[in-house]
Amino acid sequence: MRSHSLVAVLSLGSAALALRGQFPANTADETYIRPLDIVDLNVPPYSSNTEQWRFEEGPPENATGNLIFDTVHSSLQHWPNTRYRNGHNIVPGVIPTGTLLYHGTGRHAIPTKPDWIATDPEHSIGFARGRDGWHLTLAVTRPLKVLYFDGSSAAKISEGTMDTQDIIAWGEVQPERYFDERRRIQDLCGWGKEFGLDGFARMEMDFEVMLCDFTAGVEVVSFLHVRLLPKHENLYLPRLPSPPRLPSPSSLRPLLPPDSEHWIRAFEVMHSGSWHNRYPGDSRIVLDLTGLVSLYDIALAPSLVPVRAGLERWDHRVLGISSEDLSQVKRKLIEVISLPHPVNSGIDWMTLIHVIVDRYADRLELTEHLLNFTSSDSQEVLQRAKLTQTQLRIMLRPYLSDSIIVPSTGASGVDALEWASPIFRLCATTHTSVIMNQIPFMTPSEHLLLKAVKETTREICRVTTKMWAVGVMSGLDTLFPIELNGEPDIAQIMNDWKEDIQKLMSWLDWSIWIKCRPACGPEEMCYLPTWPENVPRPKDLPRPPWDPQNITDTSEADYLTEPPLENEDGIFSFEAPTEEWRKPQPKCIRRLSPYGF
Ligand SMILES: *[C@@H]1O[C@H](CO)[C@@H](O)[C@H](O)[C@H]1NC(C)=O
Ligand SMILES: *[C@@H]1O[C@H](CO)[C@@H](O)[C@H](O)[C@H]1NC(C)=O
Ligand SMILES: *[C@@H]1O[C@H](CO)[C@@H](O)[C@H](O)[C@H]1NC(C)=O
Repeated sequence: MRSHSLVAVLSLGSAALALRGQFPANTADETYIRPLDIVDLNVPPYSSNTEQWRFEEGPPENATGNLIFDTVHSSLQHWPNTRYRNGHNIVPGVIPTGTLLYHGTGRHAIPTKPDWIATDPEHSIGFARGRDGWHLTLAVTRPLKVLYFDGSSAAKISEGTMDTQDIIAWGEVQPERYFDERRRIQDLCGWGKEFGLDGFARMEMDFEVMLCDFTAGVEVVSFLHVRLLPKHENLYLPRLPSPPRLPSPSSLRPLLPPDSEHWIRAFEVMHSGSWHNRYPGDSRIVLDLTGLVSLYDIALAPSLVPVRAGLERWDHRVLGISSEDLSQVKRKLIEVISLPHPVNSGIDWMTLIHVIVDRYADRLELTEHLLNFTSSDSQEVLQRAKLTQTQLRIMLRPYLSDSIIVPSTGASGVDALEWASPIFRLCATTHTSVIMNQIPFMTPSEHLLLKAVKETTREICRVTTKMWAVGVMSGLDTLFPIELNGEPDIAQIMNDWKEDIQKLMSWLDWSIWIKCRPACGPEEMCYLPTWPENVPRPKDLPRPPWDPQNITDTSEADYLTEPPLENEDGIFSFEAPTEEWRKPQPKCIRRLSPYGF
């Protein structure tokens, strides 16, 4: 497999160089379409022939280019990784010199074992235990080498958030150990030592780093005894029959007075997480995408293809991976973190992906909005269809050569749109055609990124070009007028378009489209239900009304880091997950008391 693709890569490299000599990059001939992809052996479904630009060929059911594109686009962003909790990507990165990192603790002692640090103090403060806790501020003194696990990889639930860590720490997914954080951090750090890893970056309410050694690469800025509660305020935690510990503070919070410091801290950690909702996300962790390892890579983990078949994206996870694939994943990971200065193409993949999302995200959204329209007035429908056609044309404008010849109506069926296939092709290949020359220098991870970009742009261009061409053929485009024979059924076209755009947008599934509608007010914040606030509660948890008699002075932070205890039967059963938990939908929550999640 490897030697085969190497040959392909080398021969493509020379073919590409030959091409470059023949056709200068800035050709003045706008109508010329580069004969690309002819030798593209990297992307098997789109092999060489003229039929590859047919409008009927959508992506295969099990293609993951869209998922790799979207998860890479979402790296280190809180919003998309809260929406889809189960991570699939592992990426090496560094935390630059000078970065501040924070640690909350109940003891005035710098940890001597691996421990957790936060990128925002609002997060670490939650772990300063007791009435007054200790808060440590560290500064990075040399780039810290880390591995990033995407998804809500620090959310302590058994449904898949920990899968990618488990396979590294323990060689397999062990869902029942989702709360075994102490062993997880020890085993990850133990494994990473050989490769000079300083830690592991994860996300829960906000971003955090599992730091392996508090004496390596960090220096103390301050270590303060901070006041967390007013002197008179009790911790307001109910005294419960045994066991004294509960699975999560969210279970208890309804019992607390609405202006309690607990609520403020619980909200503020979610708030600081929200600062990293969108691109560039938490940029204190700098990723090296040339070392991306993705469990959505169907060449790396083919055994997960049938595991995912028929599942909704919320339910994708790594549990079920074969042991062969697992070894391959670990080998690949060791490869990417061992190579000190891997040769790569120099392409800024993150920017390329963002350029594509920026260019299409809001236009597709506006087009979807224009098509979400019904009227019995045919003039109104026609007006709307023309507005939609304009949006489609704007998307394709850079690819609309003046020499395009639109046939008159009459041609029908599959071939009726063949005249538009050069536009589809130019649209689909423009972002990647020249960077293909870099293939000989690309790392295997970059090949995966290239494939994801190609598959994604291809589908965007296939659908939008088809929609536009249908509009042209129906006489809707003022720039490309045609002779109509007969009245086109505009209502039918609108319906087909609506279906096309909805299918495309659900395939792309960009979290940028998930918003609070209407937008939240100034005292609110848009929020996606997540751990620990909205996690299913244990069934047997008593929920008395708040009662000062029912209070004990236990640290809340324990509930964040300690596993739930079993009941007398050795079982801790949870309420069935709600739909809101399984498929987080945005809602506005208050930024001020009274709080609520
Ligand atoms: C992907 O799906 C196609 C059919 O849609 C199937 O023929 C092919 O074997 C699948 N690929 C894998 C790797 O399972
Ligand atoms: C379509 O319009 C309806 C009514 O205005 C609205 O409730 C719905 O959210 C819209 N759908 C989309 C996908 O915009
Ligand atoms: C605590 O609350 C429970 C449930 O409301 C109640 O049965 C119990 O008597 C309370 N305990 C005290 C000490 O008030």
